[in-house]
Amino acid sequence: MNTSTCAPIYIGLMSGTSLDSIDAVAVRFEPEFELIASHSEAIPPAIHAATLALFNPGDNEIERLGRLDLELAKLFAIAVENLIRQHHLDRQQIAAIGSHGQTIRHRPEANFTLQIGDPNLIAERTGITTIGDFRRRDMAAGGQGAPLVPAFHSALFRHPEHNRVVVNIGGMANLTILQASETKPVLGYDTGPGNVLMDNWIMQHRQESYDRDGRWAAQGRVQPQLLKQMLALPYFCEPPPKSTGREQFNLPWLEQMVGALAVKPQPEDVQATLLELTAITIADAINSHQLSDLQVFLCGGGSHNSQLRSRLSELLKPHYLNTSAELNLDPDWVEAAAFAWLAYRTLNRQSGNIPDVTGAAGYRPLGAIHWATE
Ligand SMILES: Nc1ncnc2c1ncn2[C@@H]1O[C@H](COP(=O)(O)OP(=O)(O)O)[C@@H](O)[C@H]1O
Ligand SMILES: [Mg+2]
Repeated sequence: MNTSTCAPIYIGLMSGTSLDSIDAVAVRFEPEFELIASHSEAIPPAIHAATLALFNPGDNEIERLGRLDLELAKLFAIAVENLIRQHHLDRQQIAAIGSHGQTIRHRPEANFTLQIGDPNLIAERTGITTIGDFRRRDMAAGGQGAPLVPAFHSALFRHPEHNRVVVNIGGMANLTILQASETKPVLGYDTGPGNVLMDNWIMQHRQESYDRDGRWAAQGRVQPQLLKQMLALPYFCEPPPKSTGREQFNLPWLEQMVGALAVKPQPEDVQATLLELTAITIADAINSHQLSDLQVFLCGGGSHNSQLRSRLSELLKPHYLNTSAELNLDPDWVEAAAFAWLAYRTLNRQSGNIPDVTGAAGYRPLGAIHWATE
């Protein structure tokens, strides 16, 4: 731990659509951004299963939601305690926790989004001020409530001479366009699926939680008809602001697409097509902005998928492509750091959204503050 500064520490907690783990980071923003510590907390099978079950409509939802809200909060608090203990952090220096919560519904078209993992309980168990429920204030102001990471990307990664794009490939994929000229607005939106369909498909066919380095996809052949059908989804042509989730991109949707084909493809061919879908929708979105001298930086778990990376690199030529590691932030911790940043902003009475990105009526401080006990 760096003891050269006493500037406040913020903890960011992220639990994404992939349900691969809970990401926890400790960071400072003053005098400049510094990643102090990180920790990945495994999700116990029972909580994993209960969360997956709540992604879809079903019986007795309120009771199950209430229980999972608490179970997840306890797990988030454990993640924070492990982060503090393993890295010998000084609790007195920790100003706040920013907890994204687990999304179980995201319905921007109906104006609601729901993240659970009760921040009251996190504050109570850790004794640290906890800010949660970041998305709903933006939605209340008419926005999508997503993506919220672009403001952080802009604060950290904007360059005065180069146009940059930051692409976060989690369960879903979202991008942030940072133009060199300060007068140009920051743009950002969800491009569509990141890893979620590939994860679902390999789980269904090979009982593996993800396709390491895209090796299985590399064994298949892209199916042009399947790809064309999937690309016909109106979401891909809609103009921003836009955001999406498992409500749109899920196994039943994929099975319907595969079922509509005249000839049944091999499972690895479907996987190859899903990887291509992720790559094409990201690359098309980036290329549609027609920016020159562009540097593209990947983050999120999908940035480790070497097959996906090399496909993106082909589709994005001649643009420069790398991961956020080159910008001094490990791709695995960017999103969690973004929620620490949002907590920092809110605690300092500053806005966290970008209205041009989410479609909100204006800049808003995001989230609700659950103060530490005095
Ligand atoms: N080496 C790898 N090869 C392919 N995919 C990977 C690799 N490492 C991580 N992933 C993918 O990244 C996902 C997790 O990404 P993450 O950014 O945590 O998403 P989320 O925010 O949805 O939790 C995994 O589910 C997996 O699909
Ligand atoms: Mg994750």
